[in-house]
Amino acid sequence: MWKGIVRGWVLACLAAVCAMPPALAQPAKARATAHVDLDARFQEVQATPALAGELYRLGRKVAAVCAHCHGDGGNSTKPSIPNLAGQNPAYLLEQLRQFADGRRRNEFMEGMIRAMNADEKIGMVLFYADQDVRPQPAADQALVLKGQSQFNKNCVRCHGSEGRGSAQIARIAGQQPDYLRTTLRRYRDGVDVRSNSIMTANTRYLTDPDIEAVVAYVSSMP
Ligand code: HEC
Ligand code: HEC
Repeated sequence: MWKGIVRGWVLACLAAVCAMPPALAQPAKARATAHVDLDARFQEVQATPALAGELYRLGRKVAAVCAHCHGDGGNSTKPSIPNLAGQNPAYLLEQLRQFADGRRRNEFMEGMIRAMNADEKIGMVLFYADQDVRPQPAADQALVLKGQSQFNKNCVRCHGSEGRGSAQIARIAGQQPDYLRTTLRRYRDGVDVRSNSIMTANTRYLTDPDIEAVVAYVSSMP
């Protein structure tokens, strides 16, 4: 089960970011669910408060492994690694699916996700969704204002006036600036590590300076 983690850890160590042992305690009840359908299980969990509570606690344990990169409670301390705090559960599950089926590529994350069963994935998203995001203060107010008008014109329609998305759409408010910049450029340029036709259509017209402005605004949103 944790072979993937170990493999991922080796890769991470090669990238000089290893520090934590790849060990997670596995409650017996979570073990039987490796092959269940993620959506069906998620619906079942949402409809069963006691189960949701149990998986939340499991998720908190999983998150201890992720904290090395995604930070305590999902507030990353590395601008290139995304916050998971406050992120919408269905969006997170969809990203796990994309890493697993190769639509989104990141060797370390692919290894991590292979090692997680359905209950660990669901517990993890319940835990992170419940954590508060710490926004990134922006230094350049003029740039923030420029970004705000970009955002209001081009992003609000889907990500909402507060940047918090919806059940299916990502929260972007308070996200790490380097990660936002890289992600927006990837969508715009249609690179294969991460593409999405909706986001490509909505970033195609953005210049690099437009992206800088929108990143300054979005990452500072509470
Ligand atoms: C070695 C560092 C590292 C560790 C440990 C790590 N991640 Fe990640 N994770 C990343 C990086 C880097 C990205 C961004 C990948 C990209 O888009 O290129 C990422 C992206 C993600 C995303 C997508 C977020 C988004 O906004 O789309 C999810 C979900 C995620 N990780 C979950 C986890 C979980 C769950 C764990 C623990 C089981 C974990 N990660 C452990 C480095 C890590
Ligand atoms: C028509 C709806 C729509 C519009 C308009 C839109 N987005 Fe998105 N956005 C999405 C969807 C859907 C996703 C999830 C794509 C995926 O799975 O990779 C997404 C994902 C993202 C992500 C990745 C979040 C993460 O955690 O990795 C960022 C960043 C983002 N959008 C920023 C923006 C910005 C900035 C704008 C305005 C310039 C914008 N979006 C306009 C629908 C939209």
